[in-house]
Amino acid sequence: MRILVTGGAGFIGCNFVRFLLRNYPDVQLTILDKLTYAGNLANLADVLDDNRLCFFEGDICDRTAASDAMADAEVVVHLAAETHVDRSIMGAERAARTNFMGTQTLLEVAREVQPRLFLHVSTDEVYGCCPVGAFSEEAPLNPRNPYAAAKAGADRLAYAYYITYGLPVVISRPCNNYGPYQYPEKLVPFFVYRALRDEPLPVYGDGQQVRDWLHTDDHCRAMQILMERGLPGEAYNIPAGNERTNLATIRLILDELGKPESLIQFVEDRPGHDVRYALTGDKLAALGWQPQVPWEQGMRSTVRWFVEHRDWLEQSIARSREYFEQWYAGRV
Ligand code: NAD
Ligand code: TYD
Repeated sequence: MRILVTGGAGFIGCNFVRFLLRNYPDVQLTILDKLTYAGNLANLADVLDDNRLCFFEGDICDRTAASDAMADAEVVVHLAAETHVDRSIMGAERAARTNFMGTQTLLEVAREVQPRLFLHVSTDEVYGCCPVGAFSEEAPLNPRNPYAAAKAGADRLAYAYYITYGLPVVISRPCNNYGPYQYPEKLVPFFVYRALRDEPLPVYGDGQQVRDWLHTDDHCRAMQILMERGLPGEAYNIPAGNERTNLATIRLILDELGKPESLIQFVEDRPGHDVRYALTGDKLAALGWQPQVPWEQGMRSTVRWFVEHRDWLEQSIARSREYFEQWYAGRV
């Protein structure tokens, strides 16, 4: 099987590339990745020599790069995106360009290449805030920050390419992921980094916001099922059943590190902060998927991974000094 993975040098991408190499002996894998601050060839160091893997450095907004990388792909798994809500709040342009226009470029190229399947990885954030209950795939999209809005646009554009041109698009909407190689601007690795240095942990607002946490291993199995059994034109939620307040997650991280809760520092909230995300999961369950990684075990082992890869953590943070100084100025 010939598969193109966009964003394969990022967090979910590098885990999925390893998953594919492990589970599909005959796979021919191409990665298209721009290697932004979040993409890192070091994330793929142990597999780059695999002769089943071909790495293209390029931008998904660049039609030529997209055509060269997609070439004769049978399956496209589209993960590349500007993924950080906070950065999209500081400036929405990059998220709009990559997440929306980049997806449009890939969809257009796919019309020529005609892959068997185009798996568009969307997000639970397209539904917006869910104070009670859980959103099914039929719920209206109501994104409330620039990242989520650009992803919602891409999600519906992918659907439009199915309806209008018959492109076999499957859309997934996963909840918050955690696991090895997550770029340390996101809550879990950023707080591990700071706690290891005994620096205060900037908790937005009251820390009572709720996220549902999906281990990347479970997400990889979900993407595999969607690649094999997802119905074109359909969207599939990927919930994890691990709804936790941010404070509960942070306390678990501190406990694993043996660090005091006095490191917690409540700071000014993020504008437009969605207090809760929640998804129903019956549609994906009907295809045979269930999350397997238990919450506490998965989170503790993820925290240990970052501790064991402290150089990676430090070097990743060093690539974004300016961002951290700007965003957290006046907060911590
Ligand atoms: P990430 O930020 O870790 O990685 C993104 C990757 O995309 C990087 O390797 C980066 O270099 C690449 N990239 C960015 N812009 C590009 C461009 N213009 N052209 C080519 N490559 C580009 O992100 P992630 O957490 O691995 O997320 C992957 C996908 O999953 C995204 O589409 C995201 O919206 C979606 N998602 C993530 C989560 C999560 O919790 N991480 C949850 C739901 C959905
Ligand atoms: P994040 O990992 O950025 O993912 P998302 O915003 O896509 O859910 O954040 C997870 C939660 O943690 C979110 O409610 C915001 C909160 N958070 C903080 O309180 N402080 C921080 O410094 C960061 C990065 C996140």
